[in-house]
Amino acid sequence: MDSIVVKGGGALSGQIPIAGAKNACLTLMPACLLSEEPLTLTNAPRLSDIRTMTELLRSLGAEVTSMQDGQVLAMSCHGAINTRAEYDIVRKMRASNLVLGPLLAREGHAQVSLPGGCAIGARPMDIHTDSLELMGAQIDLRDGYLHAKAAGGKLKGAVIDFPFASVGATENIMMAATLAKGTTVINNAAREPEIVDLADCLRAMGAQIDGDGTSRIEIQGVDRLHGATHRVVTDRIELGTYMLAPAICGGEVELLGGRINLLQAFCEKLDAAGIDVMETEKGLKVARRNGSIQAVNVTTEPFPGFPTDLQAQMMALLCTAQGTSVLEEKIFENRFMHAPELIRMGAEIEVHGGTATVTGVKKLKGAPVMATDLRASVSLILAAMAAEGETKVSRVYHLDRGYEHVVAKLRGVGANIERIKDQ
Ligand code: EPZ
Repeated sequence: MDSIVVKGGGALSGQIPIAGAKNACLTLMPACLLSEEPLTLTNAPRLSDIRTMTELLRSLGAEVTSMQDGQVLAMSCHGAINTRAEYDIVRKMRASNLVLGPLLAREGHAQVSLPGGCAIGARPMDIHTDSLELMGAQIDLRDGYLHAKAAGGKLKGAVIDFPFASVGATENIMMAATLAKGTTVINNAAREPEIVDLADCLRAMGAQIDGDGTSRIEIQGVDRLHGATHRVVTDRIELGTYMLAPAICGGEVELLGGRINLLQAFCEKLDAAGIDVMETEKGLKVARRNGSIQAVNVTTEPFPGFPTDLQAQMMALLCTAQGTSVLEEKIFENRFMHAPELIRMGAEIEVHGGTATVTGVKKLKGAPVMATDLRASVSLILAAMAAEGETKVSRVYHLDRGYEHVVAKLRGVGANIERIKDQ
């Protein structure tokens, strides 16, 4: 396994290009199952999660060709396909469950392994399955697989009230509804930019969808969808992550491709903490307003609230803020695993259930730490960049899931960071 070694350094300067969104690409790729014609994605990120989704789609019989160093994915799926998503692939990545809706819509049946446990929480699929049952699917859980069958071989439209604005369930149901008989309405739908990006792609394929980006989405089923070419939206979580680099280290960095409207709530918290964000024609320029960082309170919520995927990274900033910050994690039940690692670096953090209280200290100190999940691992890298001395982050395979070329991007703005092979 590899590790990443970071030596705490000074101010950063330069530009970081932001890639296409992992969480958009992971739902856009299964959309290829909805048509017999080719779907091509451009601006795709080069990540291990994308390779896992590629492996899964190929196991179902889709042709997936990766071009231009992985930035273009050409997918096509003709004739009958295999409708069984095997456990040994699904267990690697929860987003594999996004093939359930498309498989049911295309073939009228599917067997999809439950993803199994995940570091940040139980992450059940009840909203997905309850909704599909309202659309006429019969779903049984047997030997760890969801066995789903659409009555009469075709899903039918339904009015569905989500108990929680689940991102994945919104995506699964939206895709399933494009080919259902009649109209589907999702109330309390997720509003993330990745949902809008998926709707844009499905419309380009001939789907009839309105209301994406709001909490009420209406989909009129059509008989078939045609092929399309779609550019993956910018990754707002990678963007927010790298916006915190100059905030934590000082200096000024321009994030190429960044736009404030992807991260309004996050930018408001940066402003309160004393960070200036300026829109440029190429993206966003980020710098501290003056020397110090002010403590702020953060509560994670579904979009447009503060993103849970930036909670760990924000905590890294607040470890050396002036004052005490309270972070409430309201989306996942176990998403503070970065806290004990930051404490090893001298941070003062108390975790009680879904709340973490961070009392700012002057400076963190480098130490050997361990990555536990994707966003926790990058928060440790950010903290290490401004810490005194050297930090070695182990198990960085977590990072490769969601951050392409992270060492090169951070070295490019002056960070003292390298990747090493563990003996
Ligand atoms: C998506 O996960 C993202 N993943 C996550 O990003 C992100 O943290 C999450 O949305 C919230 O924004 C992808 O898009 C691939 P949810 P998803 O369904 O769809 C509960 C990252 O770091 N829930 O909105 O799984 C669930 O347990 C990843 O890139 C149910 O109870 O998120 C969780 O507590 C991590 N029943 C909450 O809702 C269900 O049927 C949010 O889940 C579905 C979800």
